[in-house]
Amino acid sequence: MNLIQIWHYHRPALAKIYLDTLNAGLVTSTTIFAPRRAGKTSFLRKDLTPAAQAAGYIVVYADLWQTKLSPGVSLIRALEQALEHKSRLQSITAKLKVPVKKVKASAEMAGSRLEGELEFSSDDKKIQTEMALQIDSLMEALCQKKPVLLLIDEAQELAKTRENEAVATALRTTITKHQARLRVVFTGSSRMQLAHVFSNSDAPLYSTGAAIVDFPLLDRYFVEYIAEKFKASTKRTLAIESAWQFFVKLKQQPEPFLMGIVDMVLNPLHSINDAMAAVEEKLAHTENHAGVWAALDATQKTLVRMLAKDPALKPFSQATLAQLRKIIGVDALKITHIQRAMSNLESIVIKSPRDTYEFENTAFAHWVATLSE
Ligand SMILES: Nc1ncnc2c1ncn2[C@@H]1O[C@H](COP(=O)(O)OP(=O)(O)OP(=O)(O)O)[C@@H](O)[C@H]1O
Ligand SMILES: [Mg+2]
Repeated sequence: MNLIQIWHYHRPALAKIYLDTLNAGLVTSTTIFAPRRAGKTSFLRKDLTPAAQAAGYIVVYADLWQTKLSPGVSLIRALEQALEHKSRLQSITAKLKVPVKKVKASAEMAGSRLEGELEFSSDDKKIQTEMALQIDSLMEALCQKKPVLLLIDEAQELAKTRENEAVATALRTTITKHQARLRVVFTGSSRMQLAHVFSNSDAPLYSTGAAIVDFPLLDRYFVEYIAEKFKASTKRTLAIESAWQFFVKLKQQPEPFLMGIVDMVLNPLHSINDAMAAVEEKLAHTENHAGVWAALDATQKTLVRMLAKDPALKPFSQATLAQLRKIIGVDALKITHIQRAMSNLESIVIKSPRDTYEFENTAFAHWVATLSE
């Protein structure tokens, strides 16, 4: 029994607002911006998708983050899936004339952000051009069938590497070309990173999704809905005011709140105070370490691991450089890359006056240290 999955609180009115805005045609795309775990993806898939389908759209969903594929391949796959191609992977590779492994490898390489020194080889440019053509022709085919709603989850990925920027540029071309039939919703959880995609004047999708719109967090109605579900399955009453206070304390994140409620369903003797205290304690231990970690590139991850093991590490020494080259497997790595990586890590590790490195969040350091190699 997974009540957390079953108790989805639908938000049809919110879905209608997004659809009406896009249907009106003044804008062809919009963004959903909210912190992590606020319910963005669930809203796209469980509320916006059915509403858009009912309104006559073909919905294409591409997640650019929780996938091992590069964003370009994820997007192509999503478009192909919407066109109901049978053997998707095969068709991508056949058309690109490169093995998927290579596409992946180049994505991972780009992921380590070795800009400058490692320009794309002509080969990679070829892959990018192929991908752009592919995206455009798939979109063309879809738009001929019906109006298309493209959902790009975790759009901030589009500004992370040059390869991803090339995908963003391809997307921009396609959006402009098909603007009569295509609408796009982007999501993101970092305003700063989204600005790199949409708002800065050199951003790859500048003006396309320019308004970074706040996504309304789940509100008191959600708590009331859960209280009804709770009553229906337990015959007990959930005190709404106190449940709401706990929900606010949990930053209006549905998942931990529901974990507490499920605990109360299963254990009639647990009070809401007990249940929520247990959830809070659990959260304090896990926080969002995985999310922080996933946002780092290969060089940053390796440095963070090394610093978690050895706070006295000298990141800019030749010895560290040699070690990094070996671990990451990139001989072209230079001290300048380490400098860039370290400056990007400023919110995570800080140099103490004692010349050692300290983690802003010691729980994160501990979490990193327990990762398997
Ligand atoms: N409307 C809802 N009703 C009930 N539970 C929800 C709802 N929306 C989200 N959840 C719960 O919260 C969890 C996190 O939601 P979701 O993955 O949609 O958030 P997100 O903002 O996309 O998170 P991330 O930043 O990790 O991408 C879901 O697994 C689901 O259990
Ligand atoms: Mg999500």
